[in-house]
Amino acid sequence: MLNWEDPLTGLTPQAAKPKTLAAADFSDLLADVTAAEPVPTVAAHPILDRKEPVQQGATGLEHIEIGAKRIQVDDKKIINCRADLNQLVPFKYRWAWQKYLDACANHWMPQEINMNADIALWKSADGLTEDERMIIKRNLGFFSTADSLVANNLVLAVYRHITNPECRQYLLRQAFEEALHTHAYQYVVESLGMDEGEVFNMYRELPAVARKAEWALPFTRSLGDPTFVTGTPEADQRLLRDLIAFYVIFEGIFFYVGFTQILSMGRRNKMTGTAEQFQYILRDESMHMNFGIDVINQIKIENPHLWGAEFQQEITTLITDAVDIEIQYAHDTMPRGVLGLNAPMFEEYLKFIANRRCNQIGLSEQYVGAQNPFPWMSEILDLKKEKNFFETRVTEYQTGGALSWD
Ligand SMILES: [Fe+2]
Ligand SMILES: [Fe+2]
Repeated sequence: MLNWEDPLTGLTPQAAKPKTLAAADFSDLLADVTAAEPVPTVAAHPILDRKEPVQQGATGLEHIEIGAKRIQVDDKKIINCRADLNQLVPFKYRWAWQKYLDACANHWMPQEINMNADIALWKSADGLTEDERMIIKRNLGFFSTADSLVANNLVLAVYRHITNPECRQYLLRQAFEEALHTHAYQYVVESLGMDEGEVFNMYRELPAVARKAEWALPFTRSLGDPTFVTGTPEADQRLLRDLIAFYVIFEGIFFYVGFTQILSMGRRNKMTGTAEQFQYILRDESMHMNFGIDVINQIKIENPHLWGAEFQQEITTLITDAVDIEIQYAHDTMPRGVLGLNAPMFEEYLKFIANRRCNQIGLSEQYVGAQNPFPWMSEILDLKKEKNFFETRVTEYQTGGALSWD
């Protein structure tokens, strides 16, 4: 390693020939300049001259048009918008801005949750059955990588193609929340002293976990392709398909067996810290999904030609296939009844949820008469309660006080 005092001789060609700028040396320097190659009048620019596909919508990185007409609300569009994306206002999609504000008001950090009871229970010889341990491990295995996958889809695939500043503002907040969720799972794994290699590799080693990540990857990979641009009906449908795959199916169906299992555990006074982490995450996820559904429906309103009968059929099939995959996950994580739950109850629950998702994006329900066997899950998601739930702690958080969880 070098020290500041070490001689520079021999390190660079210049260092090998040290030169002081005495007056006589200027003639030498001038001679060097005149002998050099003539500078071309228009310099070739290795970045600006690169030939790349033209993005139909704005990116936010275009040249600034000095004196251009001011942005009007009507100039704004969710996709393929040409208006400057660096100006948040005037708002067009107030629901997106409101969700950003609500998400910030619900801020939390994984370390604020007391994990002591979980650590004692996890380490005790007979506190949990093998089936209960399997539920915890497999869900941490699924979620610890699933949230990174969602974050990568947002940042590397979706963000570039959503051409609206207030929606992007929410996407930035969501991306941070996904980081917090991955942090929360890592925090639980570390607190309980689990084998982190086993947990974080489950999505490559355990079919029950791998299947869901494998299902989602092609949708984001398609958009993450650097040559992909929106602006044609086919490309815009690819974007819409990715949004539905991640917001409606991945976050809106694939998360629900795991959430219900872990929250059931908390309701039975087991692994209450882990359950509390999942409860906060579920509230965030419910908002992510609702934001995604608003974006999807807005794209449909602005681009009705994308939502044809054939495409609707394709999306319906995606949803019913996903329900089958998640039913399989319920069986894989719960081969026997446990905690008053069993796989057939989840089959009913997933059909009930899928009907709701279909309704939310304007498709017809696929499972006639499906009922909700876990009405308490809806109570947790009740928005009014959500606000009350966070009221105290948000105030405490903003005053910088430590939170008490006793
Ligand atoms: Fe998440
Ligand atoms: Fe999410």
